[in-house]
Amino acid sequence: MKKGKVCIVGAGPGDWELISVKGFNRIKEADVILYDFLASKELLNFTKKGAQLICVGKADGIHLLEQDEINLLLFKKAKEGNLVVRLKGGDPFVFSRGIEEALYLKRKGVDFEIVQGITCAFGAPESFGIPLTRRGEVSSVAVLTGRKSNGRPIDAPDCDTLVYLMAVSNIKKVVTAILKSGRPKATPCAFIERGTAKEERSVAGNLGNIISKARSHALRAPSVFIVGNVVEYGKKIYGHKFK
Ligand SMILES: C[S@@+](CC[C@H](N)C(=O)[O-])C[C@H]1O[C@@H](n2cnc3c(N)ncnc32)[C@H](O)[C@@H]1O
Repeated sequence: MKKGKVCIVGAGPGDWELISVKGFNRIKEADVILYDFLASKELLNFTKKGAQLICVGKADGIHLLEQDEINLLLFKKAKEGNLVVRLKGGDPFVFSRGIEEALYLKRKGVDFEIVQGITCAFGAPESFGIPLTRRGEVSSVAVLTGRKSNGRPIDAPDCDTLVYLMAVSNIKKVVTAILKSGRPKATPCAFIERGTAKEERSVAGNLGNIISKARSHALRAPSVFIVGNVVEYGKKIYGHKFK
């Protein structure tokens, strides 16, 4: 019997063409694909005939299957001798449970591989011409979560550029934490919703007005929130794309 294997593949941020050649090849070869809501659905058009496609739907609080159930399914499908692709949005190790799945598979003795993806933290800003660094001017970037549990405060470290994921529902607390850390209200910032996908959009402003702007444009998840002077470069080269 064929030996099974799991490939944990990053699908990239939204535009299906942003997946790596390696990830794309694994999708074409797979017997079984377990995919998240955030992984681009167009990629499922390239699966081989008869491949089993299972949505394990994980995005912003909606979990069709709990993590334990996903782990078990990966294990079972691989043990049946299948090539299993675990398709995840962005990069599988950036604010994702790819590492938990890899550790589980390691423990269970299942052969696995990790295929990198472009994280939304980098891909979404770039779609609006926002560089996260600039030589001689912007030399540090932090990628953060806008959701903290167990009463821990939101981080706002002393970096030139801050990129928050999962910040939409918590935006008041995120902006308060950033202002408290000493940044002025005039600091440029922008939300990018569904970056790189056809329906992508951005709402830009400053720390003083971004909450009301986001509200008036009915901004939704999935979005990244970028804080820093780099936002101005995006406006210079793709000004027409911003609201
Ligand atoms: C659980 S994290 C997964 C991140 C993913 N592993 C990555 O590397 O892109 C989900 C969050 O990523 C952000 N996100 C994912 N895709 C996005 C996109 N296309 N545009 C903007 N933000 C996105 C949102 O903040 C969303 O709530």
